[in-house]
Amino acid sequence: MTAAETERDGVRAIEAGAVPARFARGWHCLGLSERFKDGRPHTVDAFGAKLVVFRSGDGRLNVLDAYCRHMGGDLSRGTVKGDEIACPFHDWRWGGDGRCKKIPYARRVPLRARTSAWTTMDQDGMLFVWNDPEGNPPPPGVTIPRIEGATRDDWTDWVWHETLVAANCREVMDNVVDMAHFFYVHYSFPTYFKNVFEGHVATQIMKGLSRPDARPPAKEGRPGMLGNTSVAAYHGPSFMIDDLTYHYEGMDIDCVLINCHYPVDADSFVLQSGIIVQRNERLGSAGADEMAVRLGAFILKGFEQDVEIWKNKARVDNPLLCEEDGPVYQLRRWYEQFYVDAADVAPEMVERFEFELDTTRPVEAWRKEVEENLARRAAAGGGTA
Ligand code: FES
Ligand SMILES: [Fe+2]
Repeated sequence: MTAAETERDGVRAIEAGAVPARFARGWHCLGLSERFKDGRPHTVDAFGAKLVVFRSGDGRLNVLDAYCRHMGGDLSRGTVKGDEIACPFHDWRWGGDGRCKKIPYARRVPLRARTSAWTTMDQDGMLFVWNDPEGNPPPPGVTIPRIEGATRDDWTDWVWHETLVAANCREVMDNVVDMAHFFYVHYSFPTYFKNVFEGHVATQIMKGLSRPDARPPAKEGRPGMLGNTSVAAYHGPSFMIDDLTYHYEGMDIDCVLINCHYPVDADSFVLQSGIIVQRNERLGSAGADEMAVRLGAFILKGFEQDVEIWKNKARVDNPLLCEEDGPVYQLRRWYEQFYVDAADVAPEMVERFEFELDTTRPVEAWRKEVEENLARRAAAGGGTA
């Protein structure tokens, strides 16, 4: 049956256009910057290209297209020589600005010997690149905010994970507005949920309870988890900073969670998570480090739960929504700003939009479901309820 036929029968048809042919304009994090600072060139597959990342002698991190414009050698297999990356094929030397600086065996460098270079930023332990299909520099004000805890001694170091996901990266963005999936996919229990979109920033504010039916009770002597408060904002198309507080009996634990990605090609992306935890007296210094590792693993599990859905789902341009769903269409309109030329960014893509979900009905339904799960567990003799 074709889509048109099913529509005629009153059956909702899924519509899905092709994935975008271009990659989002904006800052993208390629991971912790430290791993790129060993003096060797690194390969990163991103934006439908192969990139070379290297630290030049002046200490700067540089990102170029990996394929040498001379005869196509792979610069990420080359050698860093001074401030340039030397191609392994004929030793042409490329600077971080994308210009060929020197050809050791030639009298002069050809005019216009230039390759693609990405603007980089090394901030708070992470390497960012600015991607713009139109080739413009980042406009003033379009930046990644500093993360205070990232450079402070009373916070842990980053616990970082990355996973390659075989889906278009729009799937991960939809999570911003998708309250219900947090209950069904991630076994959390949202009780408050609000979105604010404005300019290049999309925010999700969520409060939630811990799910006694989803995890074993706290070990003897360890405080039980009560719930969490999360204020998570995407700064541009791919980098989310989540100020996340876990509420435990008698104490709060403050974390910063990074949830970010970069597209490899139209049908895959690298999903990354990073977490730092603030040390406090009750937690102790080692306790905070342990907590960061544990939370990092917990968040990774959350990603795996999403990935399991994404790898089996269909792309849907026209989701069929109920009243208790978040503003998926408005979010996608916001997201569209990164895929059109800067001159074509329409007011409705960047205007302030605010929406708070009425959680009355979901909370009622979820309370009941949790109780039923606990009762079933008790009946089955599982004493962990
Ligand atoms: S292909 Fe790179 S120097 Fe010849
Ligand atoms: Fe999710």
